[in-house]
Amino acid sequence: MTAFHQKPLRTQLQALRQCHPVPKSAFSDGVEVLKGKQIVILGCGAQGLNQGLNLRDSGLNVAYALRQSSIDSKNASYQRAKDNGFHVGSFEELVPNADLVMNLTPDKQHGPVVNGIMPLMKQGAFLGYSHGFDVIEAQREIRDDITVIMVAPKCPGTEVRAEYLRGFGVPTLIAVHQDPQGLGLAWAKAWCAGTGGHHAGVLLSSFEAEVKSDLMGEQTVLCGLPQAVCVAGFERLVELNVPAAQAASFYQFGIEQVSESMKAGGVRLAFSKLSPAERVHARREADKLKAAFRPLFEKHMDDIIGGQFAEGMMADWAKDDIDLLTWRQNTAETGFEQAPPSSHFELDFDRATGLVALFAAGVELAFEVMVEAGISPASAYYESLHELPLIANTLARRRLHEMNVVISDTAEYGNYLFSNVATGIVKDVMAGWDLKELGEGGQFDAVDDATLSLVDEQNQNHPIEAVGASLRAYMRER
Ligand SMILES: NC(=O)c1ccc[n+]([C@@H]2O[C@H](COP(=O)([O-])OP(=O)(O)OC[C@H]3O[C@@H](n4cnc5c(N)ncnc54)[C@H](OP(=O)(O)O)[C@@H]3O)[C@@H](O)[C@H]2O)c1
Repeated sequence: MTAFHQKPLRTQLQALRQCHPVPKSAFSDGVEVLKGKQIVILGCGAQGLNQGLNLRDSGLNVAYALRQSSIDSKNASYQRAKDNGFHVGSFEELVPNADLVMNLTPDKQHGPVVNGIMPLMKQGAFLGYSHGFDVIEAQREIRDDITVIMVAPKCPGTEVRAEYLRGFGVPTLIAVHQDPQGLGLAWAKAWCAGTGGHHAGVLLSSFEAEVKSDLMGEQTVLCGLPQAVCVAGFERLVELNVPAAQAASFYQFGIEQVSESMKAGGVRLAFSKLSPAERVHARREADKLKAAFRPLFEKHMDDIIGGQFAEGMMADWAKDDIDLLTWRQNTAETGFEQAPPSSHFELDFDRATGLVALFAAGVELAFEVMVEAGISPASAYYESLHELPLIANTLARRRLHEMNVVISDTAEYGNYLFSNVATGIVKDVMAGWDLKELGEGGQFDAVDDATLSLVDEQNQNHPIEAVGASLRAYMRER
């Protein structure tokens, strides 16, 4: 049982609910408090490299600490850091002089990494994370004099860099776990400003809320559902005699375009792009999907809150990732992944009522189940609807392989856990669909005005729509 579970229910709920949009004016000092400080990033992977590039471009001093073996062998991490002109050193060389150590190694390595740097860190230094799993689920003990903060971008590292280069940023959660000097929030804000996150929108959260909401989003609607839809949906199209490359292309690019539309104007915008008859059909299919999927979404949320998910994954770490590696191999062998390369195409929504129904169901359900569990609606919005196209971009690049490489190891494990079951559910639903829902469109039953009006009200009145509208307005503020 973790410290979170030992807290009274009300205290647990208070931590889960913690989530306040930080006004843009709170970032008027930018990166000032970190100017002249030595920042040492542990690991030069997906988040490490991209956050480091942004921080350096924001005028901060960044160096990379890598394992001695990686330096000696000049491995890929070493090359990435060196090719980008960063100073690279061992933990022993760099950590003792660091004011802020950012731990951007994979979650499963946090035990040896953090235990290893405890004796090296200077008195009163800061330790940063981009995900709270180690602190909350693995219950890491950190020296009392060290300030522990989090800056968690709500997307893959590649998008953190891409958005920064566009002069913007990605929505980010910040949190302070241990604050002996009372400076944690100021440093977290400066780190966040250095990545560009303050341009997009920042939520002041807690380590507990970040972990539980992040795990839920990535396991279900963000990664697990797209994976299940690609695998099951490809098989269905091939059954319907669609050539393999075309079948793969429908999902590889279609999911990105449906989710981009939802990000721009909510789930209701994606529905509004359908004709009245298609809209009613898509809503009905989405409701059927929600009923079929609800027990699985609830199980994932319950296991995340209750700690069973963390225990299962840590047991797999102890078995050298046997489950993760088996699931990764199985995914690589699916028809979708093996299909010939497919070319980009512009999705005609009228031909994709099935995709709209699937992702409307996934987004609404993830949001509902998170909020029912005590997670704040704003956090649930970012962890479902907003982040979906940022993950779908990776799928569009090089299918599931790319998505699973770019997301964290924790996200990848949870994704398989969900999609292994969800693929069967999607197959069952799609058995009742044909090309009318999946790529060709066609004639749907005519609808009367009363039915259409009820469906439109249902689409507009889902609680995610109001939260989304206000957060999108906040993100647009300059
Ligand atoms: N990926 C995402 O999309 C994402 C999004 C938000 C938050 N996060 C969080 O960001 C953190 C980093 O995740 P990531 O996906 O960016 O990690 P990652 O790409 O897998 O990190 C790989 C880097 O960590 C180093 N590393 C691995 N094991 C190490 C060890 N035992 N000691 C020292 N260095 C080690 C690797 O160096 P070697 O080459 O030497 O192995 C490599 O440079 C995690 O807490 C994750 O939850 C990730």
